[in-house]
Amino acid sequence: MSASLKTNFLGFDYENPFMNASGVHCMSTTELDELANSKAGAFITKSSTPNDRTGNPSPRYVSVPLGSINSMGLPNKGIDYYLDYVLDRQAKYPNEAPIFFSVAGMSVDDNLSMLHKIQNSNFNGVTELNLSCPNVPGKPQVAYDFELTIEILTKVFDFFKKPLGIKLPPYFDFAHFEIMSDILNKFPLTYVNSINSVGNGLYIDVEKESVVIKPKNGFGGIGGEYVKPTALANVRAFYTRLNPSIKIIGTGGIKSGQDAFEHLLCGATMLQIGTELQKEGVSIFDRVTKELQEIMDKKGYKTIDEFRGKLNSL
Ligand code: SIN
Repeated sequence: MSASLKTNFLGFDYENPFMNASGVHCMSTTELDELANSKAGAFITKSSTPNDRTGNPSPRYVSVPLGSINSMGLPNKGIDYYLDYVLDRQAKYPNEAPIFFSVAGMSVDDNLSMLHKIQNSNFNGVTELNLSCPNVPGKPQVAYDFELTIEILTKVFDFFKKPLGIKLPPYFDFAHFEIMSDILNKFPLTYVNSINSVGNGLYIDVEKESVVIKPKNGFGGIGGEYVKPTALANVRAFYTRLNPSIKIIGTGGIKSGQDAFEHLLCGATMLQIGTELQKEGVSIFDRVTKELQEIMDKKGYKTIDEFRGKLNSL
């Protein structure tokens, strides 16, 4: 019998660990329906703000040979649009896998007001608080400000009683892994999603001697193959430092079953795909599930739990 990709997360058995990364293929209800009907084990909505936003001027997302650069600026249809969608979907399909819902406020108050709305609604899925958007001009990433992270999480967990995870930017220093883990271990988080794009890279078109995206003079978040080693390091660093009750969602550079296997070996429970989903469309979930299963069959693993987190040191 072929290996099982079933993944238990928050007591629910997802068919497999794969999801979209918030921001990719999840802006409209049509795209969300396509994800729901795809091979993905779960899906997440575009990070919403209290009201709809058009985001930054185009071009603002460009696929490049080893990945992508974007400065979208949180375009989205506003929290009510996504909340209506998920409430409708969970009412229509009560046995479907719990949905993930992403919010990214521009201020502490924005985040608190959106989380109050979710808390007071019938939403029974998982909420992701995005503390790591690098693309809004003039707004630094919250998760690089440790004091502000503590302030937000303290205020949130005062009233928010539903499952909550946070999306983090990459960290590059052991001191920062330690500080952030000490902070996160003080809160009843369901999960940590590592990593968002590597912020503020620059991609250059040599022919035109120009940047390739319009916002922020071409500076944008980098995703895809460029970022896999950084993503794996962040997944591993948090997996080995956080309380075991805080699960890890691995995001960054997943293009093949082998990339997925590496994230799982580092300790991820669920896996999100962004850049490659944008390139390939939802059929990527058929391919990566097959590839991961083939690797597991070859190695004789029947379940993911047999190797999750068991990365060898030398
Ligand atoms: C964006 O909309 O700019 C991307 C969102 C993110 O990186 O969190």
